[in-house]
Amino acid sequence: MNIAVFCSGSGTNLQAIIDAKQKGNIKATIKLVLSDVENAYALERAKKASIKIYIVKLKDFASRKYFEEKIIDILKEEGIDLIVLAGFMKILSSDFVASYQNKILNIHPALLPSFKGTHGIRDAFLYGVKITGPTVHFVSKDMDEGPIILQEVVAIEEGDTLEILAEKVHKAEHRIYPKAIELFVQGKLKIDGRRVRAG
Ligand code: GRF
Repeated sequence: MNIAVFCSGSGTNLQAIIDAKQKGNIKATIKLVLSDVENAYALERAKKASIKIYIVKLKDFASRKYFEEKIIDILKEEGIDLIVLAGFMKILSSDFVASYQNKILNIHPALLPSFKGTHGIRDAFLYGVKITGPTVHFVSKDMDEGPIILQEVVAIEEGDTLEILAEKVHKAEHRIYPKAIELFVQGKLKIDGRRVRAG
């Protein structure tokens, strides 16, 4: 199975996926890393792991449609079976999602359906919840809406700052994302309405 990881930023989740692959905990090929940001640190991590990189910038295309067509061409050429969004900051259109139906995973840094959107960790912290944590889910046409694969609870303790919480959530992300990917690779994820059964 060939995996493409899409990133826009630092790529700590990408790193966790690379590490899991190197330890034999993900039995698939990380075929490429694609970024819409030229200087994303994720690209350095990919290069270090000898993974092919693609930089595809929205502003280089006349419209989002052409941008996505370019990405789909790459994915087809590389024989990609699974797309892993790891801090990819562009929203994919419903047409794109339909062409990879149930083959796109995302990680969100809050317990969905709470605190959707770009600032899941901060929003949970400011709301004053006592627990939060990351969610790995299938991508559907609506943002942060697809069926949930794995979640991990992170407690917000007395004295935690936003920075401390962010670190705890990221550590949990790095535990559950590789696990969810391997479940997919092993063909263990069965979608039944909103419910995802593993095994
Ligand atoms: C993570 O917090 C993830 O939940 C969100 O984007 C962030 C990406 O971080 N979707 P990194 O680039 O993997 O370090």
